[in-house]
Amino acid sequence: MSSMYEKVMERTDTAEAYACWLQYRKMEDAKWLRDYMSYCLNITALGKSVVINAALDELSLAFHSMFEQKPTITNRVHPESSIVIGTYQDMNLEEHGVEADVFHKLNDEGYLLKTVKNAEKSRLLLVGKSDKGVLYATHHLLRLIQTGVALDHLDIVDSPRNQIRMLNQWDNMNGSVERGYSGNSIFYENNQVTTNLERIKDYARMLSSVGINAISINNVNVWEVETNLITGKFLPDVAKVADTLRAYGLKTFLSINFASPIELGDLSTADPLDASVKSWWKEKVKEIYQYIPDFGGFVVKADSEHRPGPFSYERDHADGANMLGEALQPFDGIVVWRCFVYNCMQDWRDRSTDRARAAYDHFKLLDGKFLDNVILQVKNGPMDFQVREPVSPMLGAMERTNQIVEFQVTQEYLGQQKDLAFLIPMWKEVLDFDTHAKGKGSTVKAIVDGSLYDYKYSGISAVSNIGNDINWTGNTLAQANLYGYGRLIWNPDLSAEEIAREWVRVTFGNDRAVVETISTMLLDSREIYENYTTPLGIGWMVNPNHHYGPNVDGYEYSRWGTYHFADRDGIGVDRTMETGTGYVGQYFSPNKEMYNSLADCPDELLLFFHHVPYTHRLKSGEAVIQHYYNSHFKGVEQVEDLLAKWSLLADKIDEYRFHNVQERLHMQLENAKEWRDQVNTYFYRKSGIPDEKNRKIY
Ligand code: GCU
Repeated sequence: MSSMYEKVMERTDTAEAYACWLQYRKMEDAKWLRDYMSYCLNITALGKSVVINAALDELSLAFHSMFEQKPTITNRVHPESSIVIGTYQDMNLEEHGVEADVFHKLNDEGYLLKTVKNAEKSRLLLVGKSDKGVLYATHHLLRLIQTGVALDHLDIVDSPRNQIRMLNQWDNMNGSVERGYSGNSIFYENNQVTTNLERIKDYARMLSSVGINAISINNVNVWEVETNLITGKFLPDVAKVADTLRAYGLKTFLSINFASPIELGDLSTADPLDASVKSWWKEKVKEIYQYIPDFGGFVVKADSEHRPGPFSYERDHADGANMLGEALQPFDGIVVWRCFVYNCMQDWRDRSTDRARAAYDHFKLLDGKFLDNVILQVKNGPMDFQVREPVSPMLGAMERTNQIVEFQVTQEYLGQQKDLAFLIPMWKEVLDFDTHAKGKGSTVKAIVDGSLYDYKYSGISAVSNIGNDINWTGNTLAQANLYGYGRLIWNPDLSAEEIAREWVRVTFGNDRAVVETISTMLLDSREIYENYTTPLGIGWMVNPNHHYGPNVDGYEYSRWGTYHFADRDGIGVDRTMETGTGYVGQYFSPNKEMYNSLADCPDELLLFFHHVPYTHRLKSGEAVIQHYYNSHFKGVEQVEDLLAKWSLLADKIDEYRFHNVQERLHMQLENAKEWRDQVNTYFYRKSGIPDEKNRKIY
């Protein structure tokens, strides 16, 4: 049976959109074709596993597509072997002049990619520490070929910096995707698990190509039908999905309903300290492992936004998480326990409750109480994936509790894949942030790679942005966020520029104008989005529920704890020690003092930490109100410029992708104008202060 990928490749108008960054474009240049083909036609595969088979399939597919010739595959080295792949145990390293030492320094997913020369010929070695390493080496090679790198002198040793590199699908079994902007779920339809495993396989290929190794396949909000995913009704189908994902190095996780023992009709309580509840979960976990022997574990949203949790039984989150941890321990499974716990029934009149404080206030005192197979998953900021937030003070605060940071690839508050927002620069800011938890140099990346506190489990997780749209991500340029997420968490030291350029090359080809134009558009885009929405760190001001488009007071008198407190004189949230909510006190020095001080607080976060008059001067010299006007006018001009830049690429990009992006940029322009005019008008009417430049405000 031909794969979905092959089928789609026959339908030329959307083939490129579907293939994302696995284009494997036909090689036209005669010299490159000759060079690459000298390496790519005779593969020797040592050792056998489903993962090695997946690597071989990928090589065959790619070479066939690029060179129009299928490689021969053998299982022993012979004089014509031009690529040898296998794990270091399966390979006679000496024969190829490679020291085994290299592998002792690598973690389990690392690899060597090396050109070796002997009398007869040059050949490429793709040697993994494990079979997953072989798969990652394969993708590295394919990336090099697609970006036009010569293969004659390769000597690459690489391994991922983060142990858990995860995606969370927010997919529901009715086929909808919470905060999804790319069509319906590829995992479910009509309250059943999908039978279209080819599409799952293509997703797995993409994820493995950027090194993702874990995935939870249902929404963190686990509703009635999804509660049954851990029962015999659905486990056989979940197991098929897990089989497909496994071949690409991905471990399957499920989000669970904390009240399952009750909801599935077996018990009258879900109290985590109740003996019958404990043994219910132990039996349940045993059952799951019968279907999926390498099951990853559970993702849990508990006592959060009305989801059940240990609070109902006057137990704490350590009690809840440990109960599940105990059940998973015999199978090496883990519990990913989310820290998105806050009061979502706040009274807006109450100025002392501060949602930003909530995670730390709930969890800090539990440090050291969690089992070692429990990991706390913390959103990157203290609120909820806004365009700019400070780094969550939870990161670094838990010395004795495994931590994983949560990003959001889906653009819930960042334009919903209509507007362009390349998120890698933002995530890099988070990873590079120095928490000072153990003095200078205690960066978030050192926390989540496990090195700062020597965590047993750690890593990075993110909410996926894909659906069943033909191009996976609605906006073709949003593919860059998924790609970039994987590349960045594999190696947080890659720059946003490198990632952007690499993505453009593998996605659109190596034409210089295309690479320059699109990578510039990407790299500027987050700041552009910030300019016409909510600069200076205030966030929100979106339409309630769906979160797209401006509504300055949309959440101002609501129960969600997300306020800007604008009045006729000023705006911002006072989170200082002296007069505010004291939130700044959750940071280590000197961050605490920096944010607490009006003089030292960085402009871009000013309104997150301080309530200031509109006339307050920023470090740039601009008054806050004038900055608001200026950035909103500028933001719209910048979107016009994005459109102009894109238009220049009309004859360099296939029609489908060109029009897809162009259409989105037009929507973005409308959105940006709406933001500009509503925000400027709102603040002009509140403050009575006119724009110094006399531009149109309504
Ligand atoms: C946000 C989002 C919800 C989601 C929640 C979460 O509030 O709007 O849709 O369920 O985050 O992360 O749990």
